[in-house]
Amino acid sequence: MANKLWGGRFSGEVDARMRQFQDSISFDVRLWEVDIAGSKAYAQALAHSGIITQKESAQLIDGLEQVFDEFAAGKFELREGDEDIHTAVERRLKEIVGDVGGKLHTGRSRNDQVATDNRLFCRAASARLHAQLAALQTALIAQAEAHTETLMPAYTHLQRAQPSTFAHWCMAYVWQLQRDRERLDDALSRINISPLGAGALAGNPFKLDRAALARELGFDGITQNSLDAVSDRDYIIELLFICAMIGVHLSRLAEDMVIYSTTEFGFITLADAYSTGSSLMPQKKNPDSMELTKGKSGRLIGNLVAVLTVMKGLPMTYNKDMQEDKQALFDSLDTLELTLDVAAGAVATLKVNPHRMLSALDPAMLATDVAEYLVRKGVPFRDAHHLAGHAVALSERKGTRLDLLTLEDWRSVSEHFGADIAKVFDYARSVASRDVVGGTAPKSVRAQIKAARKLVG
Ligand code: ARG
Repeated sequence: MANKLWGGRFSGEVDARMRQFQDSISFDVRLWEVDIAGSKAYAQALAHSGIITQKESAQLIDGLEQVFDEFAAGKFELREGDEDIHTAVERRLKEIVGDVGGKLHTGRSRNDQVATDNRLFCRAASARLHAQLAALQTALIAQAEAHTETLMPAYTHLQRAQPSTFAHWCMAYVWQLQRDRERLDDALSRINISPLGAGALAGNPFKLDRAALARELGFDGITQNSLDAVSDRDYIIELLFICAMIGVHLSRLAEDMVIYSTTEFGFITLADAYSTGSSLMPQKKNPDSMELTKGKSGRLIGNLVAVLTVMKGLPMTYNKDMQEDKQALFDSLDTLELTLDVAAGAVATLKVNPHRMLSALDPAMLATDVAEYLVRKGVPFRDAHHLAGHAVALSERKGTRLDLLTLEDWRSVSEHFGADIAKVFDYARSVASRDVVGGTAPKSVRAQIKAARKLVG
């Protein structure tokens, strides 16, 4: 009981199962680094406010550095009664520096302390996610650069729609991930705000310079309401949402890769390093990396929903319910960290099979181009679309490919068709013609790659 932070008014032991139920040290121990950083800055701020002496502050900081070193060296020993990381660090600090250790918590509560730790932890995690997302973007851009002229079908409803290129497909995901990085930046403006000095809920009474303390910890600002500061976890929820969003983007990339690597499609071949075999069927090479990427997104969504649900309907201010924020947060971050590494590796090492992509193109995919041909001859688009549809129907009736219709066939559909209709049946021409900004033309995609490179670095 000696190291209980709150033992004063209690008599008797807490029930063993209850202790197990409420202790969070098994998972919040990983906050040790941010917890100690927060405490060091706090010890300094206490001296500035005059409530402890410079000497006491220096003793506390020295002691905290020793605790830090023990953690860093993997030598920190947990003791019975270390219910959470805050308790554990303070207990050890007191062992090292003696009674003065009891001054560290002056005016502070675990409520503003854990909120500070959470925010510092989220800030560091979001920087790591940023870098990993950029690595995946870089892998996609490298594939794109090699394949601006590699023709492949693009799909809607998973039905062949129009010719496009592999580069354009790669870049589509680059932009989705770019928005995820922008979301991280935006969320950081709310994550990186210091709640320290909010105390348990009512604020610090010792003339603490909260702004200086926040600057010391690298925060961009301070919370403006102490009740709010200790009661919300919206910044965790935002980060969990971004993790879930990234997961959903990755799951779609993964599903494309699963489909494209089937024998039926054969557009790409996944490296052996990112595939596994079957214990029964010797010929199998399974895209497990991509299947798991899809599966993991379920966890990411689940963790978001879990914390939203924990927070729903909580009365002001702090409630122990909120301790449930951490496992969800850690799980999403750990899951995504591994998933992003695997996704980047799988993309960087995949082999493209251009001939398979090309042979999946079908002249009927140029029906839109046929309509555009008529538009260039002055036919209103609605009519042109209709007439091109007639031509497709005619080719189906005759059991022949659209590009093999005779000039007579074409003219039976519309007198606007001439011999130059043959020129329409060229996939590369079709792709090159879509040269607006954001279009599938190699020229446009090269510009896209250049713009993305600037953003990704
Ligand atoms: N382990 C707790 C949490 O994560 C720390 C805050 C405890 N505060 C309290 N008033 N019991 O929420």
